[in-house]
Amino acid sequence: MLTNTHILLIVGGGIAAYKSLDLIRRLRRAGAEVTPVLTRAGAEFVTPLSVSSLAGKRMFSDLWDLTDEAEMGHIQLSRVADLVVVAPATADLMAKMAQGRADDLASTLLLATDTPVLIAPAMNVRMWEHPATRRNLAILESDGIEVVGPGIGDMACGEYGAGRMSEPDEILASVSRRFSVGVLEGKHVLVTSGPTHEPIDPVRYIANRSSGAQGTAIARAAREAGARVTFVTGPASVAPPSGVEVVAVETAAQMAAAVEAALPADAAVFAAAVADWRVAEPSARKTKKADGARPALDLVENPDILAGVARRADRPALVVGFAAETHDVVENARAKRARKGCDWILANDVSEGTGIMGGTENAVTLVTGEGEETWERAGKDAVARRLVARIAERLA
Ligand code: CTP
Repeated sequence: MLTNTHILLIVGGGIAAYKSLDLIRRLRRAGAEVTPVLTRAGAEFVTPLSVSSLAGKRMFSDLWDLTDEAEMGHIQLSRVADLVVVAPATADLMAKMAQGRADDLASTLLLATDTPVLIAPAMNVRMWEHPATRRNLAILESDGIEVVGPGIGDMACGEYGAGRMSEPDEILASVSRRFSVGVLEGKHVLVTSGPTHEPIDPVRYIANRSSGAQGTAIARAAREAGARVTFVTGPASVAPPSGVEVVAVETAAQMAAAVEAALPADAAVFAAAVADWRVAEPSARKTKKADGARPALDLVENPDILAGVARRADRPALVVGFAAETHDVVENARAKRARKGCDWILANDVSEGTGIMGGTENAVTLVTGEGEETWERAGKDAVARRLVARIAERLA
């Protein structure tokens, strides 16, 4: 996802610095080269040894200013990277950046760089809400600096509010998004999403717990990567992304027709939780209790939209399905991939307790013809961007 990218990571002095160790690990796992810079205050929270060990290379610090300067000028250090990430960005670092001060290695790099900068602020809630920080934030944003977070929650200082540094996967997602811009330019991507509703009578229907969050995130990520996106969605509980062509449907049959109408496409991702069955003959009138009898539903199978598209002669070059499983996740996904004839399956464990269906995170295993890879649990947006990056590689 970040192959051939070089990130200069400035670790400021805050309790959240420990999360930056995890961020280094994730950036590298995504393929980035990471050159770490630890501020003097940052070194009070994490050790230079842990930072350089995780980065797999030496780190730069104010502590060794003189030798750093001799080996590599700070101007050069600030220019080798494709992106500068400041995490945690303390109130002090933000103030220095806003004022253009250069009184230590980190602030000098930030002033000398002509590379885009992304910051992940982390500080006490009162510092975050202080008018001085609000002013600095406004300046940094107008200077074109991307700001990720901060999140809201319990803070190390015992208070509650805004100021927690965003989780490493969110920062990684923002970093990835910068590098995925344009990779799907000129491509048409079809995404199905959400549940379907199968009517029983005019007021009742069969449904499932899908929120549509993962499909929505995929459509958004594909759009952000430059694709033209057709988004065929059942009645989801999250709003569709902007900039995509939304086709709202209710039933599996309507979804099948909308998908058919949207073809041809370069890639199709079937994230919808399509009802497997529909009521053979929905009642035209509301079924009444007073009728006495226990109602029995005569169910018939819905057409498999994914399998239908995967078998077409003019199928998209890449057809991706999902497998929502509660047990034997990978084995079932492998079998499903073969049965449905799609190229890839993203398998996820939706058993109770995982919090995945209807939740904000996902943990998936990508099953392809070449094998499987398990992706670390992450926000649905991060999973979406990772998938989109893989789709772009495949379509390139
Ligand atoms: N799918 C589809 N049309 C259907 C049913 C499923 O397009 N009528 C797609 C889903 O969007 C998903 C994939 O098929 O990409 C897997 O769906 P899932 O419900 O997990 O699998 P099933 O085929 O229903 O298999 P099973 O019920 O045995 O788990």
